[in-house]
Amino acid sequence: MRCPPAWQLRLLPPWGPAAPGRLLPVACVWAPAGRAPGSLSPLAGLRPARLWGAGQALLGGFGAPRRWRSCCWGGGLGGSRGGAGLARLLGLWAPAPGRCGAFAGPGAPRLPRAGFPGRPAATAWAGSEAWRRGPAAPPGDDRRLRPAAAGLSEARKLLGLAYPERWRLAAAVGFLTMSSVISMSAPFFLGKIIDVIYTNPTVDYSDNLTRLCLGLSGVFLCGAAANAIRVYLMQTSGQRIVNRLRTSLFSSILRQEVAFFDKTRTGELINRLSSDTALLGRSVTENLSDGLRAGAQASVGVSMMFFVSPNLATFVLSLVPPVSIIAVIYGRYLRKLTKVTQDSLAQATQLAEERIGNVRTVRAFGKEMTEIEKYASKVDYVMQLARKEAFARAGFFGATGLSGNLIVLSVLYKGGLLMGSAHMTVGELSSFLMYAFWVGVSIGGLSSFYSELMKGLGAGARLWELLEREPKLPFNEGVILNEKSFQGALEFKNVHFTYPARPDVPIFQDFSLSIPSGSVTALVGPSGSGKSTVLSLLLRLYDPVSGTISLDGHDIRQLNPVWLRSKIGTVSQEPILFSGSIAENIAYGADNPSSVTDEQVQRVAEVANAVAFIRNFPQGFNTVVGEKGVLLSGGQKQRIAIARALLKMKQPVRWMLKMSTLFKKL
Ligand SMILES: Nc1ncnc2c1ncn2[C@@H]1O[C@H](COP(=O)(O)OP(=O)(O)OP(=O)(O)O)[C@@H](O)[C@H]1O
Ligand SMILES: [Mg+2]
Repeated sequence: MRCPPAWQLRLLPPWGPAAPGRLLPVACVWAPAGRAPGSLSPLAGLRPARLWGAGQALLGGFGAPRRWRSCCWGGGLGGSRGGAGLARLLGLWAPAPGRCGAFAGPGAPRLPRAGFPGRPAATAWAGSEAWRRGPAAPPGDDRRLRPAAAGLSEARKLLGLAYPERWRLAAAVGFLTMSSVISMSAPFFLGKIIDVIYTNPTVDYSDNLTRLCLGLSGVFLCGAAANAIRVYLMQTSGQRIVNRLRTSLFSSILRQEVAFFDKTRTGELINRLSSDTALLGRSVTENLSDGLRAGAQASVGVSMMFFVSPNLATFVLSLVPPVSIIAVIYGRYLRKLTKVTQDSLAQATQLAEERIGNVRTVRAFGKEMTEIEKYASKVDYVMQLARKEAFARAGFFGATGLSGNLIVLSVLYKGGLLMGSAHMTVGELSSFLMYAFWVGVSIGGLSSFYSELMKGLGAGARLWELLEREPKLPFNEGVILNEKSFQGALEFKNVHFTYPARPDVPIFQDFSLSIPSGSVTALVGPSGSGKSTVLSLLLRLYDPVSGTISLDGHDIRQLNPVWLRSKIGTVSQEPILFSGSIAENIAYGADNPSSVTDEQVQRVAEVANAVAFIRNFPQGFNTVVGEKGVLLSGGQKQRIAIARALLKMKQPVRWMLKMSTLFKKL
């Protein structure tokens, strides 16, 4: 462990008579360096409160199945954090003051309750100095995800999302083409009708007119049906894309190493999962569909304009480039703005998530108004950005609307001149105007497609980073030890460790610890001295900077982390339950929770001495525990967490009976 020059960590020899077959308690304590090991009587001078403070208990799953080995991590000074640890529970059971039976089995020798005589000095060093020495990253610093390189590749990725839906989308594009062709042929035929009416008004044209109108109605009906099918196909494939995106993102987030979560805030991730995916999804689905439709209509419209009057069409199209320049500038601006807006929204969500999640603390300190103000200032900033976006959008759409109208006006002007010189009929001019109108509407559609696409790219920049981030620690690969020869001997050898979030603050320097197979070890030390960190390293939530941690002589870096963790049962200092029923929470400990029977759940709950209070609830095992188990007491949560860990450990009945006796005394 991290040691000041005057202190060092000693692994004390087993205390008490070592009866054959019994588990031997071994405690790690801090002792002044000046003292010779021999002069330090095991745990001598340690105050009782120490071991029973808040602690993290490791329910040993290592070694021979019948053995029960564990470390109870001594709690903070004065039992900080409310003494909610399993060690505290065990302390209640200890029959005589000064004796510890932590997991050693009822008949095993017990450790005295431990305390630190030099408490203030130890606290000053272990707690506050760690903060004083080097806050490399201030608390709460989330070190935002790097902005990803924008560009074409992002647009390609965005379109790549739609790839699995290609057949549906292809069908949708087919229907889109059909409906667009029909819509776009309308002006041509309407022009023909006008010509029928105007060419020779004296002749009876009603038959011709009726036939033409009926024919066109049938064609329009087909166009409407094709359009409806296109909308349905696009919408459903859109939702499928968003679903897939959310699932992949959630999976990618959960695979990240724990250090990633130390630096990234939950609210930010939640915002990415909900808001950013929706934005990105919309930009490749509804938006893509509308964009394709607008693009198809615009190109058909332009072709038809050339077909009807190449002269007038060339004149009109010369007006388009200036409008496109405005669109490009606007698009770039919008893309940047969206990135900032989504980040600010993520910060606001983060604040709301944290404060709502800890509403009891907020209430206890009477900070409601302060928190409301904080949140209001965050959303006000989002609002300012939204105002900027609205301003840009207003300018852009105003400009494009004006250009559209000016184009139509210039068509009328130029067309009128052409008609005057007999280069155009009234029907042709009407058709041309309708096509110009369609093209105008389609360009409007294209500009909103473009702005939504830019927003999607802005939101996507962060999502790609998350989706493509490779976890720094392997997720489910590596060696799996042979269960038969597996013993569970643990060794920490010359371990140096700093948390990635605070690389300048060493937690362990040259830390060595050996825990033989079949032994019970209690780690005792001041708050912040690194007891829980030992467990985190053992679970391979983090890798040491140097040195090795080995299990039966195998470096745990070579082992499959999922397998390794499956061998370790834990009840944490602050046991976290998931919202759901008690039974679901207990079953969570099993490899396959859906296959856990009611009897199994009941059995482990009995062993953990949880059945009595569970039965007192009207709904028994189906009682809902609330978010993070908020509807239960601290002790009840602990017992459910113990039952959950027991289910994971798959121990034989005899062992369970022993444990049951132990927990009944707690
Ligand atoms: N995720 C983290 N990132 C950065 N520093 C951390 C992290 N977790 C713990 N620390 C720091 O590492 C040190 C050791 O913490 P650890 O939780 O191991 O202490 P502990 O001995 O279990 O304390 P306690 O008895 O209070 O539970 C502390 O200084 C703590 O602030
Ligand atoms: Mg701890």
